[in-house]
Amino acid sequence: MSKKIVILNGSPRKNGNTSALVKAFAKGAESAGNTVTEFFLDRMDIHGCKGCFGGHSSRECPCVQKDDMAQIYPAVKECDVVVLASPLYYWNMSGQLRTAVDRLFALEEGDVNLLRGHDRSCALLMAAEGHGFDDVLLYYNHLAEHLRWKNLGAVLAGGNCDTGDIAGKPELEQAEELGKSIQ
Ligand SMILES: Cc1cc2nc3c(=O)[nH]c(=O)nc-3n(C[C@H](O)[C@H](O)[C@H](O)COP(=O)(O)O)c2cc1C
Repeated sequence: MSKKIVILNGSPRKNGNTSALVKAFAKGAESAGNTVTEFFLDRMDIHGCKGCFGGHSSRECPCVQKDDMAQIYPAVKECDVVVLASPLYYWNMSGQLRTAVDRLFALEEGDVNLLRGHDRSCALLMAAEGHGFDDVLLYYNHLAEHLRWKNLGAVLAGGNCDTGDIAGKPELEQAEELGKSIQ
């Protein structure tokens, strides 16, 4: 059965290493009959969570803040798979991605938790200059566990600094295979 996949791409570089992983993943996922929607967060107007605990999941826009998260909430609500894609910044995901993830909290608030569970799965795509992925993996695994999303795995592409460094590397194939495996 075809799945709806949402990719939250937290890289600021449209043609960077993370985006190359995203493209490869999407190619594989679409070849398996899935629908892929990518959000390039850096070009979107997304503000940090205000911590007001005033969200209501059942509202069309569940958050009190009105910005481009309004495009992401319905897509995430409807999707089967959420892919978090990011460069490694100081041993973590980029601020662009972390900010969007915090804002997803509004879907957990109100009468019904629309974020947690719901037979959703998740995957992680990351690029970095080095190989220090331990801390971000800990965060990602905690997030998946908290949200009760099935973890489909991670493609972690170390050794990539400049745009284009990832070209021809095996992680692109791994990302494509991960996409293809979603059915
Ligand atoms: C603000 C900043 C922080 C970074 N922190 C790390 C880091 O902690 N570890 C690492 O290996 N690379 C780090 N890098 C390098 C990027 O992860 C690397 O250049 C990556 O390939 C960028 O992905 P992109 O092409 O998708 O933007 C950092 C780069 C920037 C700009």
